[in-house]
Amino acid sequence: MKIAMIGTGYVGLVSGVCFSDFGHEVVCVDKDARKIEMLEKGSVPIFEPGLDRLMERNVDAGRLSFTMDLNAAIEGAEAVFIAVGTPTRRGDGHADLTYVMAAAEEIAKAAKDYIVIVTKSTVPVGTNRKVAEVVRAANPDLDFDVASNPEFLREGAAIDDFMKPDRVVVGVQTDRAAEVMASIYRPLYLREFPIITTDLESAEMTKYAANAFLATKITFINEIAALCEKVGADVKQVARGMGLDNRIGNKFLHAGPGYGGSCFPKDTKALARTAQEYAAPIQLVETVIKVNDEVKRRMVDKLLDLCDGSFNGKTVAVLGVTFKPNTDDMRDAPSLTIIPALVGGGSTVRVCDPQGRREGETLLPGVTWHDDPYAAAADADLVVILTEWNEFRALDLEALAKRMRTPRLGDLRNVYSVEDARKAGFQAYVSIGRADLLAG
Ligand SMILES: NC(=O)c1ccc[n+]([C@@H]2O[C@H](COP(=O)([O-])OP(=O)(O)OC[C@H]3O[C@@H](n4cnc5c(N)ncnc54)[C@H](O)[C@@H]3O)[C@@H](O)[C@H]2O)c1
Repeated sequence: MKIAMIGTGYVGLVSGVCFSDFGHEVVCVDKDARKIEMLEKGSVPIFEPGLDRLMERNVDAGRLSFTMDLNAAIEGAEAVFIAVGTPTRRGDGHADLTYVMAAAEEIAKAAKDYIVIVTKSTVPVGTNRKVAEVVRAANPDLDFDVASNPEFLREGAAIDDFMKPDRVVVGVQTDRAAEVMASIYRPLYLREFPIITTDLESAEMTKYAANAFLATKITFINEIAALCEKVGADVKQVARGMGLDNRIGNKFLHAGPGYGGSCFPKDTKALARTAQEYAAPIQLVETVIKVNDEVKRRMVDKLLDLCDGSFNGKTVAVLGVTFKPNTDDMRDAPSLTIIPALVGGGSTVRVCDPQGRREGETLLPGVTWHDDPYAAAADADLVVILTEWNEFRALDLEALAKRMRTPRLGDLRNVYSVEDARKAGFQAYVSIGRADLLAG
């Protein structure tokens, strides 16, 4: 089966590569000439563990190719996936569907024979029907179906998530489209991964409901963490005690500096907006959005307390800027709130991140970049752990403290404990949701 994939970002590229690994012939299309040039040369424009090897294997096998030419990609394809961005629209919180609709129109003009147009991008309920309208208007004679196939992969573990999904959700209107989708996912079906075939609206809603639920879970534990600090409880112990309850589960119960990334912030906003439009507001999600912003701001106050009320003249080393480990994605990362507050407050900020520099250099003006956390900490007044990359989980804290002018540690991912900090010679330490402050 031949498949075309529109968009070679975090979702499109991983999906395209994995579909080719299923044995399909996949042509990936992007408008970004730089990305296609890199891909044609065999290099991967994003950081995603294991993607380079899998891509090479399938290119070598002749099943995977890259182009800017949509017409050629669509020729003979039975399905075309739309995996373009759906960022927040400026001003109103809605998902911006400009790229999706533009892709739909381009597909309509390029397609000649029956094709299933599958939206993999996260899109508000009702979008697939609008895609169908756009296609019909642009090419009234085209024989086609639309399908909704939201993606649930996590950056940093994307290949495993795609190859061994908890579930695949497919929304269709016709048996013909359902058959094409079943053939595409046949390798997963054979291995008995759950495949939910449903209507378009339910598929679209499932994605938003899942993301909003996960964002709520994170925000819930962040609020519990704030209370733990006041009452002398330890949020790590509380989360463990909660998470061992099978009805709750232990995932997404790590207190931290607020959720970020390319999905939760925009998807919660878009869901809240859709619900308002249908006069069925989801107040819980609206509150989650507000609380998460407050959580990020609370982190700045925590660091300010560690710096005796002023960032001015302080040297701060920040370890980790990406929104989570194992990705180079900086979209809506907490670092984009916290670092500008440090710089704006008059600190000299040094930054260290295994993969964040390429994006971060433009997004974080006024900082200097270091490859080595110990070099970043030399003569610093404060070290802040903002992303729990493995290399920051096993720091030699004593060596770090020794290099600093005033050894203070802001551990916003609860990687260490107050005891670790005390033993290593830190004067001051704060973490999230734990009362046992080491005060400077
Ligand atoms: N990133 C994630 O972890 C994740 C997970 C699940 C779902 N999603 C959803 O998947 C969608 C894509 O997200 P992403 O992170 O991969 O985005 P991205 O910004 O990394 O990639 C989008 C790509 O589409 C290309 N593009 C845009 N319009 C095009 C067109 N008309 N023709 C060809 N190429 C075009 C862009 O150049 C870009 O390379 C979004 O809706 C997102 O919400 C993302």
